[in-house]
Amino acid sequence: MTAQPSPSQPPAAPREQWSTKTAFILATLGSAVGLGNIWRFSYVAGDNGGGAFLLVYLGAVLLLGLPLLLAEFSLGRSCQGDVGHAFRRAAPRSPLRHFGMLAVLGSTLILSYYSVIAGWTLSYLTDYLLGLLLPQQSGDHGKRFQNLIADPVEPLFWHFLFMAITVWVVMAGVRGGLERLSRLVMPLLGVTVVGLAIYAMSLPGSAAGVAFLLSPDWSALSDPAVYLAALGQAFFSLSLAMGVLVTYGGYLGREHRLPSAAGAVATGDVLFAIIAGLAIFPAVFAFGMAPAQGPVLAFVVLPQVFSTMPGGSGVALAFFFLLAAAALTSAVSLLEVPVAWAMRVLALSRRQATLLLGATVFLLGVPSSLGFGPWESVQLAGRGILDTIDHAVSNFLLPVAGSGLALLVGWVWSEREAIAEADLVEGFWARLWLILLRYIIPCAILLILLRSLGLL
Ligand code: TRP
Repeated sequence: MTAQPSPSQPPAAPREQWSTKTAFILATLGSAVGLGNIWRFSYVAGDNGGGAFLLVYLGAVLLLGLPLLLAEFSLGRSCQGDVGHAFRRAAPRSPLRHFGMLAVLGSTLILSYYSVIAGWTLSYLTDYLLGLLLPQQSGDHGKRFQNLIADPVEPLFWHFLFMAITVWVVMAGVRGGLERLSRLVMPLLGVTVVGLAIYAMSLPGSAAGVAFLLSPDWSALSDPAVYLAALGQAFFSLSLAMGVLVTYGGYLGREHRLPSAAGAVATGDVLFAIIAGLAIFPAVFAFGMAPAQGPVLAFVVLPQVFSTMPGGSGVALAFFFLLAAAALTSAVSLLEVPVAWAMRVLALSRRQATLLLGATVFLLGVPSSLGFGPWESVQLAGRGILDTIDHAVSNFLLPVAGSGLALLVGWVWSEREAIAEADLVEGFWARLWLILLRYIIPCAILLILLRSLGLL
């Protein structure tokens, strides 16, 4: 694809913009807070030393996540364009300019399977709404989940529905769609997750769940896998490296300061993950269940817990609302990346671009969904289709794209330009930020990569 208009020319049409800085922060937080926070974080934390993991995770967010967040925001706001435009404009002669395209393709791919999982949450939400899943049928939840994901048609219907809602929001534009959704949903999510955590921690026997999540197992700190798990989780959870933050930054006016916005998003995302963990594990332990991994935790173990819990239907509804709504605000951010790109490069209207990419994402997601049913025999290294893509994304695509971003802002931009674009002032913090981008982050990412390729 050729660059048009030429990299030095700004896009012709007047650009859409967030109405306020708060709207920008809420929308970015909406992207960050998603399926990754609600069960991935809890499980990874519990599995990697609890409170000790938490410390390493906080370190990863502070040293890697926050500087990259600021770098993405700066790049986006300075270029006022989609991620393809931003990379080409910032680095017209460096091979790093192609990383913008990587982000466009990557976000499309991530959304294709993210939407399949989000579709499952819609199915549960609907069943709880219609009262079909309760009461008291504890033994059947594993079967119910298996039946759902193995069905050749039903999960595709939910995947389609979820993408249709996502398309509907993105089609309404930056203010009318993305901004409006986050203003509505984010406060609700905050209240829901805090309410669920308070309820879960008030259950008798819940203390063991709090301990599972928070009590530090210091011996975990000597295991290199813990650091790598923390890095991967930080990238996924903060929506880094796939152009979401560049694209969202591109809708921000110059008058708004970036460092405080980056700090607010990182803090909000971490807090949300911890509080979600305090909602999940105390409940699981209070009912004598064993915490399980990934999808099984949310779709089998928790429904089992809800079916025996006093007031379980209400709690289940709140929980699946939380999952579906958090997934939606993340999905719209993932779709916005290729949509913004297609509007410029293919000269499409927002409506055309959204429909085209929504349909593409739906079709791309079909194999991921069928991989749990009719195409179950398609396996790569023991993983099904969805897991294979997810694994390739988090262990390869995100690290590679993230280091491209750090190198671009750290090395291709001049020091003065980078510091000015990030709204920093020459001094300790600006130095530290540049050192992290130039040396520490690329090296840390190289480490993740070598490790995940089994070379370390
Ligand atoms: N951060 C979201 C979550 O925690 C998922 C997500 C949205 C994402 N945009 C992304 C992950 C970009 C990686 C890259 O669920």
